[in-house]
Amino acid sequence: MALLEVKDLCVGYRIFEGHLRVLNRARLEVDSGERVGLVGETGCGKTTTVKSILRVLPTPPAEVASGEILYRGADILRMSHRGIRDLRRREMTAIFQDPLQSLNPMFTVGTQLRDILKDSMGGRGRGRLSRREIEARCIAALHETGMPDPERIMHNYPSQLSGGMRQRVCIAEALSREAQLLLADEPTTNLDVTIQDQILRKLDELVDEKGTSVLIITHSMGVVRDLTQRMYIMYAGTMVETGRTKDLLAAPRHPYTQGLMESVPRLTGVGISDGIPGRIPNYLDPPSGCRFHPRCVHVMPVCKETAPEFFSVGEGHVVACYLYRS
Ligand SMILES: Nc1ncnc2c1ncn2[C@@H]1O[C@H](COP(=O)(O)OP(=O)(O)OP(=O)(O)O)[C@@H](O)[C@H]1O
Ligand code: SF4
Ligand SMILES: [Mg+2]
Repeated sequence: MALLEVKDLCVGYRIFEGHLRVLNRARLEVDSGERVGLVGETGCGKTTTVKSILRVLPTPPAEVASGEILYRGADILRMSHRGIRDLRRREMTAIFQDPLQSLNPMFTVGTQLRDILKDSMGGRGRGRLSRREIEARCIAALHETGMPDPERIMHNYPSQLSGGMRQRVCIAEALSREAQLLLADEPTTNLDVTIQDQILRKLDELVDEKGTSVLIITHSMGVVRDLTQRMYIMYAGTMVETGRTKDLLAAPRHPYTQGLMESVPRLTGVGISDGIPGRIPNYLDPPSGCRFHPRCVHVMPVCKETAPEFFSVGEGHVVACYLYRS
C-alpha cells in the first residue's frame, strides 16, 4: 500500500465570476521512504494539491468536489478534525513557499520550536525530556539547517529575521517533527540562488538520515533531478506524466513535458511556460477533453472530446496522451 495516494481529486474555487475548476482528477502516490517531485508551471494547482492533502484549503472559496486522499489507506477528506490534527502533528509536516504562512509573528523562534518538539511527542515532551534537552534539540535543529548563531535566533521574532533565515526556521520546524511525510512546496523560492542550493542540500541530507518520504514541489528541473526518484508533471490541474525521474528527464513523452524540457536552459529564475506557446487555461471554462489541447501541436479530434487515461510507455512510466494509445 502506498503511504499517500491521491485519487481522482477534483477541487475548485468559488469566486465572484463563477466556479474555477482547478484540480481535475488529480492523481498522485508517494511510497514509504520515496522522494517524489511535482513540477508544473505557475497556476497549475500544485499548492492546491498540497493544501488538500494537509486539509488546510480555505473553504470557502475552495471546494473539494470529489476524490480521495488516502494516507496509509485512510481517507484524509473524511477524517474527523481530531484525526487530521493528529496526522498533521505526528505523521506529516510541510514547508511552504512563504515562510510567514507557517510562522506565528507573535512568538519567538524558540517558543515555536519548543512547542513543536513537545507537540510531536504527543504533548509529553516535558515528561520525557528535560527543559535543557529540549532547548539543546531546538538549537541543534536550527544549526542543522546552517543557521548562523542559533542560540541568539531562538530569542528572535520572525519579523526580525531575513527571508532566508525564516525559511531555515521553517525547515528546522518541519524536520523537528520526526514526520513520515514531508510536503515541501517550493521551499526555497524566495531565497537567493546560493542559499537555495545550500538549503536544498541540507534538506536532502536530513531526509536521507531520517528516511522521510518527501513530496517536493518545484519549478526547477535541477531540483527534481537532484532530489527525487520519481516525478509527476502537472498541467492545468491534471497529472499528465509520471515515471522515474531519470527516465522522464531522459525521454519525456507528453507534448507538454517535452515543451518543458526544451525550456530547461531558460528555467532558472523564470516561469516554466516560457518554452511553450500559449497560456494555462482559464479555469472558469477549461478546455474539454485533454486540457492541453489548445496548446498542443499534435492535437487530434479525440483530444477535444474525452480526457485521456494513462497509457504505459515503460516501467512505471505513464502518460496521459492519446499519442501513446496502443
Ligand atoms: N484562494 C484562492 N481563491 C481563488 N482561486 C484560487 C485560490 N487559490 C488558488 N486559486 C486558483 O487555483 C489555481 C491554482 O493555484 P495554485 O496555487 O494551486 O497553483 P500553483 O501550481 O501552486 O502555482 P505557483 O507555481 O504559482 O505556486 C490558480 O491559478 C487560481 O486560479
Ligand atoms: S491527448 Fe492530444 S492534445 Fe493532449 S497532449 Fe496528447 S496529443 Fe496533445
Ligand atoms: Mg504554489
